[in-house]
Amino acid sequence: MLPTPDLSHLKSEDYRHVYEPAEDTFILLDALEEDAETLRELRPAVCVEIGSGSGCVTTFAGKILGASSSLYLTTDINPRACATTKATGCQNTVPIEPILASLVGPLRARLKHAVDLLLFNPPYVPTDAEEADAAQDDAGIAGAWAGGQDGMAITDVVLDQVENLLSPRGRFYLVAVKQNDIQGICGRMLTQHGLRGEVALQRRAGREHLYVLRFHRERPDRT
Ligand SMILES: C[S@@+](CC[C@H](N)C(=O)[O-])C[C@H]1O[C@@H](n2cnc3c(N)ncnc32)[C@H](O)[C@@H]1O
Repeated sequence: MLPTPDLSHLKSEDYRHVYEPAEDTFILLDALEEDAETLRELRPAVCVEIGSGSGCVTTFAGKILGASSSLYLTTDINPRACATTKATGCQNTVPIEPILASLVGPLRARLKHAVDLLLFNPPYVPTDAEEADAAQDDAGIAGAWAGGQDGMAITDVVLDQVENLLSPRGRFYLVAVKQNDIQGICGRMLTQHGLRGEVALQRRAGREHLYVLRFHRERPDRT
């Protein structure tokens, strides 16, 4: 069992501004660990995490794959999250390049069909649209959870970009909750984007029913 990355450099003051790893983070770590062998065989050259927060997830991916085997890029709208991600990578000897940007931001064109491992634990909590918009504008801690209608306002934008980002054998891991409509997400990704989705892990955590969805191309030869 791989240990959770060392986060001892982070204090409670940091978590007032940056999302503290929680059950949704840990289910994503568990899904990556279950797939560790397959992921190593994939030999990802480019890993991208959208919304890296503390940096815990990309650091963990780096521990699975090897610090120097891949380029680890992350984005976040929260500047403190970018700084924290860098610090967590350093603390655990995983070199991470954090980018202050919304979603994939300026990298989108350059990463076309180049991302071997794409990770996203989004703000998935259903809120009203105004709350989600304000959280995105403020780029602070509320941006970690405020997800707008059905909790899908931010995720929806990413779902439409995934096919364009993934390399032929690329994989995308997405955290979601039941209210996000798991079947709807998988159905839409298949019919609109040719990406097959499946539940990699699911579990209840308090009032939440958490899922990790895993996507890959239906036809890897068609990019
Ligand atoms: C639920 S937290 C997950 C943090 C971390 N990945 C984890 O699993 O612990 C969601 C993260 O997404 C970031 N975020 C929200 N909207 C974003 C956007 N439009 N672009 C990039 N990051 C965003 C938040 O700032 C926050 O760090």
